[in-house]
Amino acid sequence: MRVLVTGGAGYIGSHTVVELLLQKQEVVIIDDLSNAKEEVLRRIQTITGKTPIFYRGQVQDEALLTSIFKVHPFDAVIHFAGYKAVGESVEKPLKYFENNLLSTIVLLRVMEQFNVKKLVFSSSATVYGTPTKMPLTEADPIGGTTNPYGATKFMNELIIKDYCVAHPEMAATMLRYFNPIGAHPTGLIGEDPQGIPNNLMPFITQVAIGKRPHLNVFGNDYPTRDGTGIRDYIHVVDLALGHVASLEKMQHAAGYVVYNLGTGKGTSVLELVHAFETANQVSIPLQIQPRRSGDIAENYADCTKSNRELGWVATRTLVDACRDSWKWQSKNPSGYES
Ligand code: WQD
Repeated sequence: MRVLVTGGAGYIGSHTVVELLLQKQEVVIIDDLSNAKEEVLRRIQTITGKTPIFYRGQVQDEALLTSIFKVHPFDAVIHFAGYKAVGESVEKPLKYFENNLLSTIVLLRVMEQFNVKKLVFSSSATVYGTPTKMPLTEADPIGGTTNPYGATKFMNELIIKDYCVAHPEMAATMLRYFNPIGAHPTGLIGEDPQGIPNNLMPFITQVAIGKRPHLNVFGNDYPTRDGTGIRDYIHVVDLALGHVASLEKMQHAAGYVVYNLGTGKGTSVLELVHAFETANQVSIPLQIQPRRSGDIAENYADCTKSNRELGWVATRTLVDACRDSWKWQSKNPSGYES
């Protein structure tokens, strides 16, 4: 298959490109490098022996996207491209709504023009908002998002869903990620946040290499087993393989479908820190801080549907993810910066 991967130089995108290339798919990446480095392309080549075709630019640049589709008759698109910093989205909502929604609208328009009918969209568990019961299934209510980033994920699902109503021959799969962590086992690619990490694992690894003095634990008074927030941490390689499984399934079925991609297990902040310290024999100093606004107490997936319909299961453990994150960070103390 020939696959366009938007945002394919990013954290989840690059791990997915690796798995696609290892499965002999042809990959073209479009990425504006606003949250990625071109170095990742060389790392992908080292891992797979193949260099994906790369176009630097924005998906909403219709002239550029059209020129790419003219050259490459794609079979499918995986759409990762989008801004993803929750806090920044609260400060700059228009930046998020314009970029994350317009990119999807232009992508659908160009896909239609070139008769490309398979789309995998990078959605998020954040569309469930503040859930009332655990674990979360795909049938649970969505839309109670608590920030513009989450709202764009929810709105993109609506846009794609309504597009599929108007185009029943379309195959569109929404993949709702829980909390991606970890890195490729080679340590060559991984999560490379710009500036102060928003997410837990990259903050832990930066503490572990001495770049940060301690980890701030945002609240230990949640109604959970140890008072800290519980999330479903899924290894990024398992997540990447979920995209490959989705593409395979779309060979045989049109229509709009949603899958949770998680492990089905909840882990608290303190439990993840302890797992990291044990797996890597390092110590992570902590400081308990007030809760972070917008955070919820608990969030983990029911993955029955994705396990059954995709034939996909997350097999990598929390320890695997802790070891792989540490290997990436140790080998790349400044990320992809040389
Ligand atoms: C996890 C837990 C924090 C940092 C968000 C998006 C989601 C996805 C991942 C975007 C929470 C605690 C965190 C820190 C901490 N996509 N924490 N100290 O908020 O669950 O999900 O990011 O990237 O769509 O909503 O992930 O890693 O920020 O937080 O105590 O320095 O760790 O309170 O309980 P989150 P997270």
